[in-house]
Amino acid sequence: MQDNTFWWRGGVIYQIYPRSFMDANGDGIGDLAGITDKLDYVASLGVDGIWLSPFFTSPMLDFGYDVSDYRDVDPMFGTLDDFKALLEKAHSLGLKVMIDQVISHTSDQHPWFQESRADRTNPKADWYVWADPKPDGTPPNNWLSIFGGAAWTFDSRRRQYYLHNFLTSQPDLNFHHPEVRQAQLDNMRFWLELGVDGFRLDTVNFYFHDAELRDNPPVPAGEAKTLGAPDANPYTWQRHVYDLSRPENLDFLKQLRALMDEFPGTTTVGEIGDDNPLARMAEYTAGGDKLHMAYTFDLLNAPRSAAYLREVLERFQRLAGDAWPCWALSNHDVVRSATRWGADEDPVAYPKVALAMLFSLRGSVCLYQGEELGLMEAEVPFERIQDPYGKVLWPEFKGRDGCRTPMPWENAEHGGFTAAGVEPWLPVETRQLPLAVAAQQDAPASVLSATRRLLALRSAHPALVEGDLQLVDVGEELLGFVRETGDERILCVFNLTGEARETRLPIPVSEALDGHGFTHERDGEILRLPPYQAAWFVL
Ligand code: NOJ
Repeated sequence: MQDNTFWWRGGVIYQIYPRSFMDANGDGIGDLAGITDKLDYVASLGVDGIWLSPFFTSPMLDFGYDVSDYRDVDPMFGTLDDFKALLEKAHSLGLKVMIDQVISHTSDQHPWFQESRADRTNPKADWYVWADPKPDGTPPNNWLSIFGGAAWTFDSRRRQYYLHNFLTSQPDLNFHHPEVRQAQLDNMRFWLELGVDGFRLDTVNFYFHDAELRDNPPVPAGEAKTLGAPDANPYTWQRHVYDLSRPENLDFLKQLRALMDEFPGTTTVGEIGDDNPLARMAEYTAGGDKLHMAYTFDLLNAPRSAAYLREVLERFQRLAGDAWPCWALSNHDVVRSATRWGADEDPVAYPKVALAMLFSLRGSVCLYQGEELGLMEAEVPFERIQDPYGKVLWPEFKGRDGCRTPMPWENAEHGGFTAAGVEPWLPVETRQLPLAVAAQQDAPASVLSATRRLLALRSAHPALVEGDLQLVDVGEELLGFVRETGDERILCVFNLTGEARETRLPIPVSEALDGHGFTHERDGEILRLPPYQAAWFVL
């Protein structure tokens, strides 16, 4: 049997946001049974596995990123048996299953927090981050919540503040407490024993806080804000020195890795939001004793330009060593890349070349549901906004609902996501209906067909899956690099612009790879790429 232990290295992971993928029980909200029904489609893309955003018991104030029972399924999504059925079907199709673990904070409805907040002496009194007010009654320090306001909320029972990096209903666990670390590792073990293949680790660099609760310094005047959050958010005005990425985390990640190593073939991908995200990604994934992979917001919030991409890749290459990135252009937290990068441009050609670039990078890849269709960001009217983050920073930042609207399966009422006559939890974007799966399925020129061809190209070439990456000079406007492993070397060149570009090939090439649907012209050393085209050459 083929050794599949390292399936994740260079693997492509399809992210499913359960609320919005497929509604099997007709209540307007997606569910596990709906996902199971659509796994054949997911497998047909040619991805290696799926990452399921949270489906655990939750009051859903942050749509599942506020967990009140780590070991059960929220009735909205189904039952534990539904999850087991999903897992079995995925495995029978050769798909790995990764689930989200939101262990940095819980819901305030979690029994641990209910106990902890009762008084200052209960057995879980120190499981969360409690601190006395300053003498004038104000919060213990200047830390801010990403979702608005102070990171501290006062609790009258204890007459203390508790820490929350996100909503007030998402209290932060105190990872300095060994019982907390153990309890979360035990929760993870539960899912590993059930057969999951890995975890996406929410806010993996937020687990520890500075035990002395020192104030964060402001971003110095004239210096760039570096955190991957909307500019309108005052959270970006501080340097996050003390509230995240604390050194103690490294030891915990080693403990976590030891657990994963008991289950060969399992993996982790951590989410990193940090002032130096690429350095943190390198630190957390190097050495083979902490995380397997991590992703940052460098491409998720990126402006579009070959120069920017080159700069990110160069910076990461310098730091990387044996670190292993996971790249993503879209997910459930950011504006869809087709809009962010390709707004007002060719809505079919642009997403294809963006995906071609993504699937050619060194590292693993997360592909967000609907990205394979080239979906644009949905416009959600203010009165339908669900995301609490969107309500706080409106109108400068409209929140994350625009990338979370239901998946269009057919060009029909509600995109075939839910039963006719049922109102989905977020409106289906009508501009997405002509891009529905059924409309693209058999069209060779569609983004969906291109996605399948590109994933087939990637998996047919070990250099594209696991090779090193070396940037090459193909001029300012184009992006070019060589991927290399064993005796396979492939030059990849991308024209992400809407104009034809010409360059002199920096190295001699032999034949061009084909079967991907892109076009180019070559005249000796001169390569001409029409708008939004890519080319791959064997060296
Ligand atoms: C990151 C998740 O991706 C986001 O959706 C969530 O709101 C925060 N972490 C808090 O858990």
